[in-house]
Amino acid sequence: MAGAKKLYIKTYGCQMNVYDSERMAEALGGAGYEEISSPEGADMILLNTCHIREKAAEKIYSELGRMRVHKEANPDLKIGVAGCVAQAEGAEIIRRQPMVDLVVGPQSYHRLPEMESRAGGGAKALDTDFPEEDKFERLKARPKAMRGPTAFLTVQEGCDKFCAFCVVPYTRGAEVSRPVQRIVDEAKGLVERGVREITLLGQNVNAYHGAGPDGADWTLAKLIWALNDVDGLERIRFTTSHPNDMSDDLIDAHGSCAKLMPYLHLPVQSGSDRILKRMNRKHTAESYLRVIERIRAARPDIVLSGDFIVGFPEETEADFQDTLRLVEEVRYGYAYSFKYSTRPGTPAADRAQVDADAASDRLSRLQALITQHQREIQDAMVGREVSVLFEKPGRMDGQMTGKSEYLHAVHVTAPSLKAGDLARVRIMQSQTNSLAGDLI
Ligand code: 5AD
Ligand code: SF4
Repeated sequence: MAGAKKLYIKTYGCQMNVYDSERMAEALGGAGYEEISSPEGADMILLNTCHIREKAAEKIYSELGRMRVHKEANPDLKIGVAGCVAQAEGAEIIRRQPMVDLVVGPQSYHRLPEMESRAGGGAKALDTDFPEEDKFERLKARPKAMRGPTAFLTVQEGCDKFCAFCVVPYTRGAEVSRPVQRIVDEAKGLVERGVREITLLGQNVNAYHGAGPDGADWTLAKLIWALNDVDGLERIRFTTSHPNDMSDDLIDAHGSCAKLMPYLHLPVQSGSDRILKRMNRKHTAESYLRVIERIRAARPDIVLSGDFIVGFPEETEADFQDTLRLVEEVRYGYAYSFKYSTRPGTPAADRAQVDADAASDRLSRLQALITQHQREIQDAMVGREVSVLFEKPGRMDGQMTGKSEYLHAVHVTAPSLKAGDLARVRIMQSQTNSLAGDLI
């Protein structure tokens, strides 16, 4: 692609942003852009932003400040802001940082090539609408390049749950599911390009209810069964789920669908019913534990992961003890825990904050407990036989690294292995953040 314009995309935040960045790169590929891996020499820099962490917008403004050197080196450089900060801040971004040429919210990415052609030389393009059309259908490129063995595929976007701390319902909008056939076609296209494992993405993925080929709304489980029939696709995962949407057919699929991996990310946020109510989570600790019980009955070896917020407004030490008790009962293989921090515009934003030191102390106690369980679950893999999808060379000579069905990183030294191989492995050793094993 000699003479192609150069595009640098910096992606923040979740896996859905990774997926969106790939789609935007493909769409801008149609407008003559070729992706590069650093901002030097770029004709366009796109920041695909995330709004979930604290002071997200401020961090993007500082990052934009640092982009000035590139704009000075190349006055024709176009700078764009995409993602959830673009959605939340909108025109404010251009007011505060006039060197930005383009601001595009997550639901308008299919308009990006047209916006790119309009922006620059002082002209600005801004789009933070929530249009009706399926942006991914409009973004559809026909890329031929082979790719790695794992890929993300967005099936559902947005959220109608309105947890009191969360910006997602405002930045990603109302829940929308993509039609089944488009997802199956996209999965087949990925498999043709070398993909063997697909992670279905959605902010509330198990609330999926896309139109099936029969005209009826299909559940996530039904979609997974359709993907189970795609030849060459070996593994299916999905994230992120809400406990209230773990339907019977999805739980059954964990016991019966061979390609659905024994790993589930099921955030609970807190173990205290009082706090769960204040969070507007719409479930209790007990109802969550009953869901876990049903999942384990269907798939006893499943590895669970979760998200937690400590120091939510009004959380007492007793509430926090409830969280520790729930963690003891579930024993997570992985978990992500955060100190609560205010998101402007969310219902909890105006509530009195928990003392910062108390919140930090709770966070470290929670993380210590989770780490202990994580360690025990990983160590218990030693001696077991797992299947590993190899992704890339490891650090040692002749070593390949991949993921087990339980999402543990596994290293194997065997010169015959290559990326994309799926093999049975006996786990020999549990290391700090990975396992080591031998081919069977
Ligand atoms: N403060 C702290 N953590 C938050 N999360 C979402 N919003 C906030 C907030 N305001 C966490 C939740 C969610 C994960 C993606 O980020 O645990 O599940
Ligand atoms: Fe946010 Fe998840 Fe709650 Fe939706 S269900 S509001 S995405 S935390």
